[in-house]
Amino acid sequence: MNVTLEIALVKLGGSVVSDKGKLKTFSRKNVDSLSAEINSYLSESSDRRVVIVHGGGSFGHVKAKAYSIREGLKNDSQLKGFAEVRQDMRLLNSRIMGCLMSRGIASVSLPAESIVSIRDTAVQSEDFSLVDASIAHGMAPVTFGDAVFDSKRVFTIISGDILMHSLAGHLRPQVSVFCTDVDGVYDSNPVINRSARLIRLLTESTKVSLEESARSDVTGEMRGKLAVLFDIAHCSSRTYVVNGRVRGRLLSALRGDVRRGTEVSHG
Ligand code: IPE
Repeated sequence: MNVTLEIALVKLGGSVVSDKGKLKTFSRKNVDSLSAEINSYLSESSDRRVVIVHGGGSFGHVKAKAYSIREGLKNDSQLKGFAEVRQDMRLLNSRIMGCLMSRGIASVSLPAESIVSIRDTAVQSEDFSLVDASIAHGMAPVTFGDAVFDSKRVFTIISGDILMHSLAGHLRPQVSVFCTDVDGVYDSNPVINRSARLIRLLTESTKVSLEESARSDVTGEMRGKLAVLFDIAHCSSRTYVVNGRVRGRLLSALRGDVRRGTEVSHG
């Protein structure tokens, strides 16, 4: 990549862009204010670029789980589910694109399959030519977790976090930010433990309790998410997890000035 560019990699978590409890409910207010913050960051310097990845939330996880899409093709009754998850994710993506574009960001949708190919649920090969071309011309590529073809299992689910991992390895961003529905990474699950404490600086030796809550996510557990987070931190100058539902937190993270959130140490 062009070394003079300052690249920010941003994940908009599914729990921020949608209401996870209600099937296909778009959180326009959150996405609109996050789009405004991304635009403010970009407007501060012409050398800045943003690459965006979004999750599935209630547009992806509910049906992906109901039809066991991640596991691959086992019977033909899943085909309808695969098609529906893809369709629902495109609907969500189109709503997010609408918010970004109405804030003046020249964003281009690049579905996961235009960047990675998948075999047996894992990334088999990567092609960043469209991402690089978009960035070179001042556009903001937007990709997303999706129901994708898998050369062994016919289909599977790829998460936005795995796309963040591939993109961070290639782009070596100045800053990577994960926007979630809580203030950052906690020492235990804040959904089920009221005394959970926010970790300000997460290192590979920080103790994090891996107790799960009963959520319908199909793309993995906390342990896997933390491993990906550390890998991304190794590729980024700074990496943060912040609350994407609180106004201003994303912009502060992009500027490297986080008052409430988790910074992930690159070790
Ligand atoms: C999931 O992507 C995509 C589908 C279920 C189709 P993510 O795993 O990145 O989504 P969130 O951010 O957890 O909702």
